[in-house]
Amino acid sequence: MGSGESKITELRRQLNEYSYRYHVLDDPIVPDAEYDRLLQELVNLENEYPELVTRDSPTQRVGERPLSEFSQVTHDIPMLSLENAFSNEELIAFDKRIRDRLDSAEIQYAAEVKLDGLAISLLYQDGKLVRAATRGDGTTGEDVTANIRTIKSIPLALRLTGFPARLEVRGEVFMTKSGFEELNNRQQAEDEKLFANPRNAAAGSLRQLDPRITAARPLHFLAHGIGIVGSGEIPSSHFDILQSMKTWGLPVSAETERVAGIEECIDFYRKISEKRARLPYEIDGIVFKVDDLKLQAELGFVSRAPRWAVACKFPPEEALTELLDIEVQVGRTGALTPVARLRPVRVGGVTVTNATLHNSDEVQRKDVRAGDTVVIRRAGDVIPEVVRVIAEKRPEASQPFRMPGQCPVCGSPAERVEGEAAIRCTGGLHCSAQAIQSIIHYASRTAMDITGLGEKLVEQLFNTGLVSNIADLYQLEHERVAALERMGDKSAENLLRAIETSKNTHFDKFLYALGIREVGETTARNLALHFQLDEIKKATQADLCQVRDIGPVVADNIVRFFRDEQNLSIIDQVLRSGVNWESGQNDDIADLQGKTFVITGTLASLSRAKAKEKLIAKGAKVSASVSGKTDYLIAGENPGSKLDKARELSINIIDETELLEIIDFA
Ligand code: IVH
Repeated sequence: MGSGESKITELRRQLNEYSYRYHVLDDPIVPDAEYDRLLQELVNLENEYPELVTRDSPTQRVGERPLSEFSQVTHDIPMLSLENAFSNEELIAFDKRIRDRLDSAEIQYAAEVKLDGLAISLLYQDGKLVRAATRGDGTTGEDVTANIRTIKSIPLALRLTGFPARLEVRGEVFMTKSGFEELNNRQQAEDEKLFANPRNAAAGSLRQLDPRITAARPLHFLAHGIGIVGSGEIPSSHFDILQSMKTWGLPVSAETERVAGIEECIDFYRKISEKRARLPYEIDGIVFKVDDLKLQAELGFVSRAPRWAVACKFPPEEALTELLDIEVQVGRTGALTPVARLRPVRVGGVTVTNATLHNSDEVQRKDVRAGDTVVIRRAGDVIPEVVRVIAEKRPEASQPFRMPGQCPVCGSPAERVEGEAAIRCTGGLHCSAQAIQSIIHYASRTAMDITGLGEKLVEQLFNTGLVSNIADLYQLEHERVAALERMGDKSAENLLRAIETSKNTHFDKFLYALGIREVGETTARNLALHFQLDEIKKATQADLCQVRDIGPVVADNIVRFFRDEQNLSIIDQVLRSGVNWESGQNDDIADLQGKTFVITGTLASLSRAKAKEKLIAKGAKVSASVSGKTDYLIAGENPGSKLDKARELSINIIDETELLEIIDFA
């Protein structure tokens, strides 16, 4: 082998390995720029030795010529669809049918997310990708090999050994939520047509006759099954097949588990529903598949769907309704937010009456008007939003929306700050809306944590004149509070006790509670690690920029806040009322600052979500998968494969008792 040839082989091996770490393990080991540099080196060498170019070289993803049409592909094994279940009852009935047929007490299922993309069949012959086809009608699809080759998460050649000589991989091609947004921004900038959702964008991108267009679209792939298997062994369960596919270099969703029995199915469904809004891609349900392939074969098919699988669909997240009016709300920092008042409509399982329109640019861009029929979207527990207007249904007399020039609450002029999307009320704490919001924020759980002092009560205290800023909270008298409507002795006592208890706090919580613009929990924590209160008061923009993650804009907000006489006087009064923290008590935060934890298995004394919240509150990061960057693995009952991986990588493994000590969980 010549030196050019061995260099080429080595570069391909390296590039494939980096790509595998990135796309399959979600654990990149080199920066993108290094990958690009090596790829360029390979391109240069292949130009020098064109006879050494192979079809599966990482340089050979984008073909040169557009096709005139897609040819047809017949699926030897039909690509089926899934039976749907729309409620717990229907899922329970599915499980019962399976148990009755198999005469079994409990079934193991592979639990997966139902990706909202396009089904694709990838045929690997001797480990090389030789054909890719759409599902089509299930029997006949289109040959989209040239387009599929441009998707970087699809390996052109499988890794390692042990895969069948002929293997058909099935999965989903999709666009991530962020990729979709970037694409639409690009389309808009170039005056091109916008896509309605990530699924349409993925479908449109795959249907291009020119693979160079497809190559420029942010498409991804996740495998969820197999079709043809020729000469070779595969594991005897679906879950194990997915694991094997990963070792062969095929990406599989991280949200995949083996569960036993209906209870665990329902738990998985709940867990993913709660996580859904935070997933990088759109899903429209959960798929449960009988895990054991022998049992799958025994169960067989009915018409177009297997008896051994079911898709539990989420309630629809989008709905049409009438936009009754656009109101303008004033937030804690004075930002004026247009809010759509809607004719009540069911979306994602709840009734929605308001939706955010974000800011005036957004209203203008979408040209949303009172009287319009609009598409409302509610994903997970995020605030519902107006997606778009149905132009055909617009009433004739409708008027474009205009943001008011004054604050709708206090009448102060509203101004737009250079470079910001928000228009703000200039009234500061003289504006009752801002004053009320700042007290609500101060009392909130992640700030001073004054139990029971919620939105309604703050409004009541403010509107009755008992409290006009945070310092007044500490001057409240039992009798006057008890005399408020719906209060009474007991409630007043509880409130005053909660205020008293909250006085012992942590410096970072207090800083966060002050509600300085753009100083969130993390920034407050970083500030508290560097400065005492007196130091922050005197700090210059340059001093503040020394702190991690603080840039000139945030630094400027902090400087302005502490130059304001009214703010300083309120802080003074608060401290004189007894609010206190121990200096140096942030040591435990410093210990966990920047440390990465992963949790596996079940914890007995708290939920994983709670443990995560506690760790984050102490400055730690909590990640979903074990990698070289993990500092600690917390292993609960019945730990999963993460424990093996952590052992492999010699990562510190701690148990629940040690976790509780770290997070001071009583
Ligand atoms: S299994 C026989 N698993 O849903 C099994 N499908 O309604 C058929 N889909 O055409 C497919 N995520 O495009 C399976 N984890 C998943 C899936 C999934 C999305 C799509 C797939 C299929 C459609 C069936």
